[in-house]
Amino acid sequence: KRPAGAPEAKLARPVAKVGVVGAGLMAGQLALVFARQLKVPVVMTDVDQARVDRGVGHVHAEVDRLVAKGRISADAANRTKALVTGSVSKAEFADADFVIEAVFEELAVKKQVLAEVEAVVKPECILATNTSSLSVTAIAQDLAHPERVVGFHFFNPVAVMPLIEVVRAPQTDDAVLATAFALAKGLKKTAVLVKDAPAFVVNRVLLRLMGEVTAAFDEGTPADVADGALAPMGLPMTPFTLAEMVGLPVAQHVAESLHAAFGDRFHVSANQQALIDAGVKGLWAPAADGGREVP
Ligand code: CAA
Repeated sequence: KRPAGAPEAKLARPVAKVGVVGAGLMAGQLALVFARQLKVPVVMTDVDQARVDRGVGHVHAEVDRLVAKGRISADAANRTKALVTGSVSKAEFADADFVIEAVFEELAVKKQVLAEVEAVVKPECILATNTSSLSVTAIAQDLAHPERVVGFHFFNPVAVMPLIEVVRAPQTDDAVLATAFALAKGLKKTAVLVKDAPAFVVNRVLLRLMGEVTAAFDEGTPADVADGALAPMGLPMTPFTLAEMVGLPVAQHVAESLHAAFGDRFHVSANQQALIDAGVKGLWAPAADGGREVP
């Protein structure tokens, strides 16, 4: 069945090579899912060789973990590893059909990166952004061909979370959109078409939830009580554990974007900012006995 709002599937273009801009943890997760599910070559780029090597190293380590768990055979692992390469040069994207960026969540950075990619790719190459909160329209607007840009938003951990938010900007071409849906199907994910609005749908819901919990903490409820209060609701993770997994600076950044867009509907936590400033990775610090204590 065609997902709501998706164009006809026959408009989709073939994707025989994928580019991933960035070699951070999210980018590595993307590279792996493309190589493993689509079985196409995936090239990751980053600003220096050390980052590239680390990114490809993470992908290989994750493949080894899948072998150790008996999820994939040694042969499949070797094939998947061979499909993922890294480079410091975006010229590697020259023959790519689909390039997705997963760089720092800052409009100017994403615009710059996609302009550099556009300068080297073929005319029909699709440019996707994994932005979680920025406007896809704004990311695309200064490119020579903004109609080739689509939002393709994965969730963490990419290997496990089944959803992709496909974001159509007003200028997005139907063939680009159809290809995004076809790719999502190939990746065995569920794609939904969402409007280009701040943080789309899922992060708006999540950030409301996380915002209310951090607000309770800011108002004086102890962090473990505020976070733990939702545990009996059957969520897969408590809100603070989720914030820790996506990274506190990322969670804070999305909260700030939503606050800027929608005002007091979204809470920006002073306590969370203080923890970020102090270099704390979670709202929790490991206690000496291996348990967790509120910093
Ligand atoms: N990478 C790869 N695989 C992972 C993983 C990771 N980081 N974390 C967990 N998994 C895998 C495990 O290996 C395991 O796989 P197998 O069944 O093959 O063994 C499977 O996921 C289940 O893991 P666990 O049994 O260890 O743990 P769990 O049952 O508690 O599930 C979870 C873990 C899937 C992460 C679950 O807690 C969950 O769904 N949490 C909510 C995640 C969520 O809401 N994500 C959205 C974040 S917001 C975001 O990403 C948006 C943004 O733009 C900032």
